[in-house]
Amino acid sequence: MDAAALVSELEPTVARLLDRHLAQAKEWFPHQLVPYTRGRDFEEGYEWSPEETALTDEVRSSLFVNLLTEDNLPYYFRTIEAVFGRQSAWGEWNRRWTAEEGRHSIVIRDYLTVTRAVDPVALERARMAQVSCGQVPEPTMPQDGLVYVTLQELATRIAHHNTGKLVDDPVGYEVMKRVASDENRHHLFYRDLASAALEVDPSGMVVAIERQVREFEMPGTGIVDFETHARAIAKAGIYDFQIHHGQILLPVVLRHWGVEELTGLNEGAERARDALLKRIDRIGKAGRRLTRRREEDAAGDAGARVPEPV
Ligand SMILES: [Fe+2]
Ligand SMILES: [Fe+2]
Repeated sequence: MDAAALVSELEPTVARLLDRHLAQAKEWFPHQLVPYTRGRDFEEGYEWSPEETALTDEVRSSLFVNLLTEDNLPYYFRTIEAVFGRQSAWGEWNRRWTAEEGRHSIVIRDYLTVTRAVDPVALERARMAQVSCGQVPEPTMPQDGLVYVTLQELATRIAHHNTGKLVDDPVGYEVMKRVASDENRHHLFYRDLASAALEVDPSGMVVAIERQVREFEMPGTGIVDFETHARAIAKAGIYDFQIHHGQILLPVVLRHWGVEELTGLNEGAERARDALLKRIDRIGKAGRRLTRRREEDAAGDAGARVPEPV
């Protein structure tokens, strides 16, 4: 289905889902979550060292990547506006969503700075580098855009929440939990909008789902040392293939969107569905294999730390 026709067909659903979103959203304030009494001025020539914090390297990697991803908001806004337009309920949603996302970087940055959890100089340099290059996935069709943001919001929700659980500070946990619950509402908006799109243009949507699952990357590409951080994030069990398979692809793509049961697909969409189902299966197998290997490595490390008898 042609992009303009789909966008216009879905407009009443966008308006309805926006009303639902607004009715469910609770106002919240970053300043009420940040423990300012733990903060102090940074004296001239201050140099951060890992002793400032009890957080592990992996959790710091995750907080760093999560915050920089939130900082990249201008480019996500640009992509969404380019794909769905700035008119009507679509534009209203995008502006409201942008305002909510802006709160995420405010609260996470304030928390990290006050608690000295990460190197503030490295963080600011990385933000400058990231935002100066402006790299984000840029789907061009609304079908692809809907699939991508549905998967991305849920992935972000899971990453924030799992990071919060490992922060080992009730205040930090609360910060990440609050942000994660916003991401969940964003996910539900897009997931249900994509369901409506599946009714209007099932073949176009299945082709888009296959393409987006095939190309999906955790938000964060373009961040300095992203590969290293991504490995650390997987090692800590914050976000990895197994989570991607079990908490995103199965519940959303297979169960909620019911891709296996769709009927009336054209030939191209039937082929895309076959490829998609095979890929989901392969991702599941790879996830289980990698998790097993990580567990074995962890058991090996623990063994190596047992002191030798003297
Ligand atoms: Fe966010
Ligand atoms: Fe979000």
